[in-house]
Amino acid sequence: MRLSQAKSINGVIALPGDKSISHRAAMLAAIAKGETRISNFATSADCAATLDCLAKLGVKIELDGNAVNITGSGKYGLTQPSQNLDCGNSGTTMRLLSGILAGQNFTSTLVGDASLQSRPMKRIIAPLTEMGASILSNEGRAPLTITGSKLKAIEYNLPVASAQIKSCVLLAGLYGDGETTVIEATPTRDHTERMLEWFGVKVRSETLQHSRRITISGDSELTARDLHVPSDISAAAFFIAAAVCLEGSDITLQNVGVNPTRRAFLNVLCDLGANIEQLDEHVSSNEPVATIRVRGGLSKTSEPLVIGGEKIANLIDEIPVLAILGTQIDGGIEIRDATELRIKESDRINAIVENLRRMNAKVDEFDDGFRVRRSELKGSQIDTYGDHRIAMAFAVAALLADGETEITDAECVAVSFPAFFETLSQNHLR
Ligand code: S3P
Repeated sequence: MRLSQAKSINGVIALPGDKSISHRAAMLAAIAKGETRISNFATSADCAATLDCLAKLGVKIELDGNAVNITGSGKYGLTQPSQNLDCGNSGTTMRLLSGILAGQNFTSTLVGDASLQSRPMKRIIAPLTEMGASILSNEGRAPLTITGSKLKAIEYNLPVASAQIKSCVLLAGLYGDGETTVIEATPTRDHTERMLEWFGVKVRSETLQHSRRITISGDSELTARDLHVPSDISAAAFFIAAAVCLEGSDITLQNVGVNPTRRAFLNVLCDLGANIEQLDEHVSSNEPVATIRVRGGLSKTSEPLVIGGEKIANLIDEIPVLAILGTQIDGGIEIRDATELRIKESDRINAIVENLRRMNAKVDEFDDGFRVRRSELKGSQIDTYGDHRIAMAFAVAALLADGETEITDAECVAVSFPAFFETLSQNHLR
């Protein structure tokens, strides 16, 4: 994919449905009783992998444009798959589905692509084993062969701030012999809790001084209920970043999920003096949604921006594009406490630093992050490392750079946003 400098980005931008919410909607609909229609289901390859796994588990799924109709047969209605469950590139599919499979009375095997099979799974194997599931792995990595059983309810302190681990344990908790509690020191995205509530499960959430306790009961049942998925704020982030960096821009993004555990990126931009308006705020299927209008320019960019600690978890998927933004602000951006970035779809710290350097940016790499200084970007060849968010972040960089940028392996955007490049060019760029 070849891209060159743009003056501005304008218009109403069509975004895919939220990936995190779509995964959860499909999985919970599959174990609910009755029919659920999920509209605006994510177009991402990751969410297609979730549907494919659920179909192999005997769930009836019908696609109808961007909607999905799922016939759930209750918590114990899944059937033993005759083939491996292929999660593709999707960590969320593998980690969340493992929680459900741990409670089944059969054995199943989860596999993934090379990237997914190199990512750490001990983080879910440990709590699920404590609950009584038997899991074979390749030294803590997929393939995972899970033999489920009636599970023991546990109280689990999250060792890392991860919504995937939290969700995995909560979903396994649906099959526990009592109340399962997850304790998180740092709040992570709460879509699983909200989606469980949508399907009629009682979720007790207590906020304490330094933690949050989330409890569900093993005798909970889920009832099918239609829902609408908001547009994906993590997909929106690339367009928002492009708009704030290109002065004459004016874009509108409709019905975007603005859940407080996902909107940290918007908050950072507002602190930098971005012109962002939030309109038509409302709640849709238990998720806060709004239309976002962004006009070009940032007005408070002289101070160095250092982001670390608690803030990282709710910003994690937006850090690649934030790095690009760092090249456009006088004080630059420093990211710390983000070692989790090293075990995403690629080692994102390395991919960011490597590609920014190719584009002539001044950047330092740390074990847990990086520092980017204001730089004049030059078009270059970009190696995505097969990582969708690296490809999209550097597409934004290309719009700011002098000369042409070539993004190799650009098709990897299909993992979260198949129409990304069409959307980026479709009459929106000047
Ligand atoms: C996700 C949680 C995050 C995020 C990922 C999606 C989810 O991962 O990076 O893209 O849907 O729960 P971790 O839980 O590993 O932080």
